[in-house]
This record gives sequence, structure tokens and C-alpha cells, in this order.
Amino acid sequence: MRTVSVVLAGIGGYGRLSVMPLLQDGPAHGAKLVACVDPFPEKCQFIHEIRAAGVPVYASLEEFYEKDFADLAVLATPIHFHCEQSVFCMQKGSDVLCEKPVCSILPDAERMAEASRALGRNLHIGYQWSHSACVTALKEDIANGLLGKPIGMKTLICWPRNKAYFARGWAAKNKTASGEYILDSIAMNATAHYIHNMLYLLGGSLAAACEPAHIAAETYRVNEIESFDTAALRITTDSGVPLLYLATHGCDEIYGPVFEYTFEKATVRYDEMAEGRFIAEFSDGSVKDYGSPADGPLAKLWNAVDCVRGHGRIFCGVETSVPHLRCINGLAEHVPVYTIPAERIAYDEKKELRYLPGLTRELISCYNSGRMPSEAGLSFACPATEFDISAGMNFAGLLEE
Ligand SMILES: NC(=O)c1ccc[n+]([C@@H]2O[C@H](COP(=O)([O-])OP(=O)(O)OC[C@H]3O[C@@H](n4cnc5c(N)ncnc54)[C@H](O)[C@@H]3O)[C@@H](O)[C@H]2O)c1
Repeated sequence: MRTVSVVLAGIGGYGRLSVMPLLQDGPAHGAKLVACVDPFPEKCQFIHEIRAAGVPVYASLEEFYEKDFADLAVLATPIHFHCEQSVFCMQKGSDVLCEKPVCSILPDAERMAEASRALGRNLHIGYQWSHSACVTALKEDIANGLLGKPIGMKTLICWPRNKAYFARGWAAKNKTASGEYILDSIAMNATAHYIHNMLYLLGGSLAAACEPAHIAAETYRVNEIESFDTAALRITTDSGVPLLYLATHGCDEIYGPVFEYTFEKATVRYDEMAEGRFIAEFSDGSVKDYGSPADGPLAKLWNAVDCVRGHGRIFCGVETSVPHLRCINGLAEHVPVYTIPAERIAYDEKKELRYLPGLTRELISCYNSGRMPSEAGLSFACPATEFDISAGMNFAGLLEE
């Protein structure tokens, strides 16, 4: 088996989780970590192991490629670097596994897809659930009509995030100091998976996600941030299926993710606080357990390694990830962010956490009744803004008041 050389960029945050698997399990998968790249490598909890293994660390990808080469570049860097770095690494001749979300704005996603096509390099986007056996099996059953026509899907995630989370330089920012789009938010980053997963499951073929056609959206900020930490979206897909997404970081009680995906012949449920598995209950009384989407979190990495050798598949590429980005860009173009009044906000000194008391309970009630906060008449709610995705995006207007 040919050994695939790997460079890992962004080792201080989520990327750190690939360090030890690459060092320890890489050889079994025919992969060798040849370098790490990070301007602040000492932040990585495994920096001693990296150095002990004799793996060089570079401050930039440019510096790395001046001296060396890797068959595969794994990019776990901030969102606004995804496009430039993916294109750069492909131009240098590497395949790329870029972390989700694909990038900040749709024209950049087009550049990434075009570069991948023109250069003949594989470009994977790292939504790990889309690489899991569980989601793949469920998607195949949906595509083959086993569950019947989709009726609707709903998703709820309440994940408190404290001061340290929002203190990261690019967190919850719309733009960099030099004016490049970031558009980081709860819907773009930590819970992007769960919007993507609904769109992905309804995509006809393995690497396809379905397109959003119309969105009703409410976005709020509990924290003192540029973008939003609380969102309610009702996305209508191009085939008319309503997808409800409710998510907040501005709460003090953790809840979810929980999902209910309803089809003509079955309802699929997922509750991470209980069994954490996709379980379908069919109208004939039978039950199918698809397993946990969290099994094999590094399947995406080993699949990207296999793809270098000409095996493996593209489970999730740029085009697969674009429907999620269309939603995010649509929010930036059309939807105002309401600031929850300061007098309603509580602060937990010990956890350094700002939150709206009772928010988790209120969103659970929305989830149970399938309503947006404004429809449920929640005390903090503002009217939803509606827009068509098919009308096209006006980038000149992105984020304008
Ligand atoms: N798949 C998942 O479950 C998952 C989970 C968390 C984060 N992510 C994604 O990973 C990416 C990074 O998020 P994070 O939370 O780890 O961010 P972070 O800010 O915590 O860490 C990013 C790391 O990248 C480094 N970095 C910054 N600029 C760089 C550059 N030009 N070249 C190389 N390294 C650079 C930083 O020093 C830092 O170590 C985002 O796209 C995020 O959405 C994915």
C-alpha cells in the first residue's frame, strides 16, 4: 500500500483531534503525518508529541510547500481561510480535506469547486456525519423510497457557549479587520452540521444535498457579538419539504441535538441525550436502528487518504456543502439580527456565561409544536423575515442594514 503523506493545518483547535490518530493510527491506514502548520502551534495540547515524533511545524502553508510536499492537506483553520488555502494546496498538487463549513461566501465556493475540477484534485468538506456508515445507510434508504416521501424535518440544539468561546479572534464575527467575510455564527459553525444533515439526507445521490428554495428566519443575539447566537429557520426545500431548525448558544441549559424526520412511511428520531442513534419507526410497526453518526469520527480522514490512492468516495464535496452556505448567505443578505435587551440577560460569573433565562425550555416548546419563536408568541420573539433563495444572491447587499 502506497504511503500517503499528510500535512495538518490548524492544530490548536478542532484540528488537534487529528494529531494523535495520525501519529498512532496513520501507519495502519497507510498515512504519514509529514508536517503541521499553525502560526501558534504551542496552543496545541499535543505539541510535545508532534515534536517528539520529529514532525516539523511551519507557521504557514506557503513556508511548508517551499520546503516539502504532502499528498493530502487537512485544513482545520478558521472559515475565512478555507477558500484561499484549499485552492493554494490544490495548486501545489495536494488533495484537500477542508473542515466544514465550506467557506464564507458562495463565489468562493465556486472558486473552490472550479479549482478542484480544473486541477483534478479531490476536495472533501469535513462534515463527519456525512462520512458515517449510519447517515450513508439512512440516506440510501430515503433515496430508494423505503421511508416514503419526506413530509418534514425538525432539529433543536441548545448548547451554551461562554466568554472564552466568543473571545476567539474570529468567533461570531461577520468580517475580518481587512473586510473579508467570515459570517461565523451558530448556524455557520457549531451547529452547521444539523442544517447540513437535513439537506444532505434529502439529496438524491450520495454526494448531493437538496437545495433550499425559501426561508423564514429569526436571528437573535444574547451575547455581545457581531453576528447571532440564536436562530430559528424554516427552510422550504426545492421539493417543498419544510425543515425547522432551532438553535441557541444563549442559554444555560444544554439540550440536544434532537431531531425528528417525518416521512410517509416512517419517522426517524435522534436524541443525543438518550441513545444517540438514528432510529426509524415504520408505520407497519417495524423499527430500524441505523446506528450512531458519531461512530468513526475520523472516517472522513481515512477516506480522504484512500481517495489519494484512487479508492474511497467523495461523500461530501463543495457542491454538497453549498446548500447550507446558501442559507447562511441568505441570512446575511436579508435577515436582521435582534439584540435581546440587556435587562433580560443573566450572567453566570463562575461559568462566564451570558444567557436568556428559560430559553432552552422555550425552544423545546417550539420544537414540540413545530413552531418558530414568533409563531409561538415567545416573549423575546420578533417577526420572521422571509426570502427566496432562487431569487439569487445580491452580494453587494450582504450584511447591509
Ligand atoms: N467537524 C467538526 O465537528 C468541527 C468542530 C469544531 C470546529 N470545526 C471547524 O474547524 C475549523 C476551525 O475551527 P476551530 O474551532 O478549531 O478554530 P480555532 O480558532 O479554535 O483553531 C484554529 C486553529 O487554526 C490556526 N490558524 C489560524 N490561522 C491559520 C493559518 N493561516 N494557517 C494555519 N493555521 C492557522 C489557529 O492558530 C488555531 O490553532 C472551522 O472551520 C470550524 O468550523 C469543525
